[in-house]
Amino acid sequence: MKNQSLQDQIALVTGASSGIGAAVAVALAKAGAKVGVNYARSSRGAEAVVSEITASGGKAIAIQADVSQEEQVIRMFEQLDQTYGTLDILVNNAGLQQDASMMDMTLEQWNKVISVNLTGQFLCSREAAKAFIRRGIVPERSCSAGKIICMSSVHEVIPWAGHCNYAASKGGVMLLMKSMAQELAPHKIRVNSIGPGAIKTPINQSAWETPAAEAELLKLIPYNRVGEPMDIGKVAVWLASDESEYVQGTTLFVDGGMTLYPGFATGG
Ligand code: BGC
Repeated sequence: MKNQSLQDQIALVTGASSGIGAAVAVALAKAGAKVGVNYARSSRGAEAVVSEITASGGKAIAIQADVSQEEQVIRMFEQLDQTYGTLDILVNNAGLQQDASMMDMTLEQWNKVISVNLTGQFLCSREAAKAFIRRGIVPERSCSAGKIICMSSVHEVIPWAGHCNYAASKGGVMLLMKSMAQELAPHKIRVNSIGPGAIKTPINQSAWETPAAEAELLKLIPYNRVGEPMDIGKVAVWLASDESEYVQGTTLFVDGGMTLYPGFATGG
C-alpha cells in the first residue's frame, strides 16, 4: 500500500454500516488507520465493511451504539480504547432524515433527527476530546493531539423546505463544529466539517434511482454528476491527515458546486 498517511492511527467512524460512513471507514483503513465501524442497528452492514477492510489487509472492528444515547457512546469509546488504544480520529458521520412539511412534522420526527444528527455529534466529540487531551500528541503518528471531522451537509447553508429538522440539525452542526474548533485548538485538536452534496447513498435513493429523478437532481449540480461515497472518503483521509494540519474550523463542501446557487448560472 502506498498512501499510508494515517499509519497506526486509530479512527472511529459513526454510522459506518452503509453509505458515506462505510466509504470513509474503508478509505481511512486504506490509509493505514485501525477503524472502529460504528452502527446503530445494521450489524450485517457493519460486518461487511469490517470484512472488506480486513480482506485487503486492514484492521477494523464493528461497534454497536446509538450515538444519541450517552451511556452507549461512553461504552463505545471504552470498547475501542480496549481494542486498539486511544483514538486519533473521530468521524461524526451518523445521521438520518425524517422528512415532513413543517406543519405536519411530529415532535418525534423533530427530536429524532436533532438527537442523532446534532446531539450525537456533541456526545461523541466530547468523549473524543477528553481522550485526546488525556493522551496528548504522539509525534510518530500525527502532529495534532486528535482530529474531529463532522459530517455536515450542503444544508448547513442551503435551506430545505420539507426537511426543516434535517436542515436545522446541520445548521447546528456548523456552529457546534466551529465552537469546538475554537475551544480545542489550543490543545492541538483539529475540528472541521465535510459538507457533502447529493451523494448516491440509501438516504436519498429516490432522488437518483430513476433517470428522470437523476435529471432533476443534476439541475442542482453544476459539475453534472451525482457524487459517489468515495468522493467523501478521499476528502476525509486528507482532512484527518497532517497534510491539512493548518485547516481548522472550516467546512469543506464536496458537492460538485451545489452550494454555488446553480439557478444563477443563467438567471439573475
Ligand atoms: C441529504 C440528501 C440530499 C443532499 C443534497 C444531503 O445532506 O442527506 O438527501 O440529496 O443533501 O440535497
